Amino acid sequence: MQFLNKARICPASGSLSSQSMPVLGTLLDFLIAVRVKLSVYFFILIHFSCNEEIILSIKALKGFKDILPDEVGHWQFIEQTARKIFHRYGFEEIRVPILEKTELFVRTIGESTDIVEKEMYTFVDRNGSSITMRPEGTASVIRSYIDNGLYVRGSVQRLYTIGPMFRHERPQKGRLRQFHQMSVEVLGSNRATIDTEVMAMAWQILQEIGLQASLEINSLGCAACRPSFKEALQTFLQERIQHLCEDCRRRSSSNPLRVLDCKSEHCQAQYTSAPSILDHLCEGCSQHFAEVKQTLSQLDVPFAVNAKMVRGLDYYTRTTFELITTELGSQGAIGAGGRYDGLVRQLGGPEVPGIGFALGMERLVMLLSQKSRQDLGPSLDLFLITLGEKAYEKGFVLLQKLRALGLGAMMDHEGRSMKNQMKQADKQKADFVLILGENELTNLEAPLKDMRSGEQELVELPPAFEDWASSIKTKIRQK
Ligand code: HAM
Repeated sequence: MQFLNKARICPASGSLSSQSMPVLGTLLDFLIAVRVKLSVYFFILIHFSCNEEIILSIKALKGFKDILPDEVGHWQFIEQTARKIFHRYGFEEIRVPILEKTELFVRTIGESTDIVEKEMYTFVDRNGSSITMRPEGTASVIRSYIDNGLYVRGSVQRLYTIGPMFRHERPQKGRLRQFHQMSVEVLGSNRATIDTEVMAMAWQILQEIGLQASLEINSLGCAACRPSFKEALQTFLQERIQHLCEDCRRRSSSNPLRVLDCKSEHCQAQYTSAPSILDHLCEGCSQHFAEVKQTLSQLDVPFAVNAKMVRGLDYYTRTTFELITTELGSQGAIGAGGRYDGLVRQLGGPEVPGIGFALGMERLVMLLSQKSRQDLGPSLDLFLITLGEKAYEKGFVLLQKLRALGLGAMMDHEGRSMKNQMKQADKQKADFVLILGENELTNLEAPLKDMRSGEQELVELPPAFEDWASSIKTKIRQK
């Protein structure tokens, strides 16, 4: 009421009053009352619809993707295949944190790389420290190698790690902000045959997953020969500086190699006639590269030399490589790596050379799903169909005993019809179905259906219930 009374008081202009304008005052009351009611109505409406919207509309962040049960089979297959091969080559798993001090990535990946300049998820934590969500795995593995003195375990360490990485890139097909890598690092050997072995392993992983890619290799030289290449490149860039993008202009003096990695097509067109690093390699790097090529051929790993490949991270020396597919549009690199002989020293560790690579799991999964629609998820040994409450109760206990014996076993808990339970068994990819009803409990024999061949036979159920599970297991294992 206070509000309404106030409304009747003359406004600042002083031209209206409740006495001189009674009709207008009533009209005002009405409008205000209606407005208040409408406001309350809209408040309730918005409040409830907002609440509803909040519940319904929390979506995943852009560039962050769920891996759903229907897709996870491909992920598991890829991961299991890679793990098997890593172990075959003597690699051990290492798991490193997702968060690291920002400085670690700035010092290793390089200040003027796209990753550090534009793509890192960096924030100040509650203690005021600058923290970054790892954009790649190598820096963290090396940090851990030094931190934990892993070099005392042996002169050569073969490590692999699998997990999510984070880069704030523009999301598109095959490019996410949270993506997953399977990566390996060999620390402690500078032999060219190790480069070849590592590439051959990456090649074998792709083959065993059933994918094809082309292997492109290059050498980025070392601290001795790179300066002469940098100089030649800088002269080349100066001659066409006005045709380059802003990033390339800036990097042409601070870190000229980086320009060759520019994503602009316009810049790339300028670089077709750029000097080649391969013309500047010193004797040692030249020999190393020649041996890599020779031994790759000996192992029948096909490759092509791509002298323009510089990679997007600053730590590389000598051999670099990429595994490329043409089947994923512009995001064709399904894996990449190279040698980084100065990195451990640069991070305060001993003088230890290193080489490694990472495979991008999203891209592998995409390729695999394009090739095979087959669901690679886990299957079940047995689906137990029960008909009636008594069979359900018995089956419930039997199921647990089967699982304790190591069988993958499921049943229906919702009292569905025989037909629907059969459908469920099919969906769970069960190899066998055992049907348990009142008759089976009385006669102590139950039909066992082999879902792969369609054959059905009766299984004897021993007089003692305790023995049912092992008897069923024996029958299944005989098949
Ligand atoms: P990288 O080339 O930055 O190298 O990444 C390796 C692979 O990760 C790429 O070839 C690609 O398949 C995948 N990848 C990279 N960014 C994304 C993204 N935004 N979305 C989806 N997949 C992506 C490294 O990370 C080095 N640490 C590799 C290495 C290990 N070098 C020596 N050791």
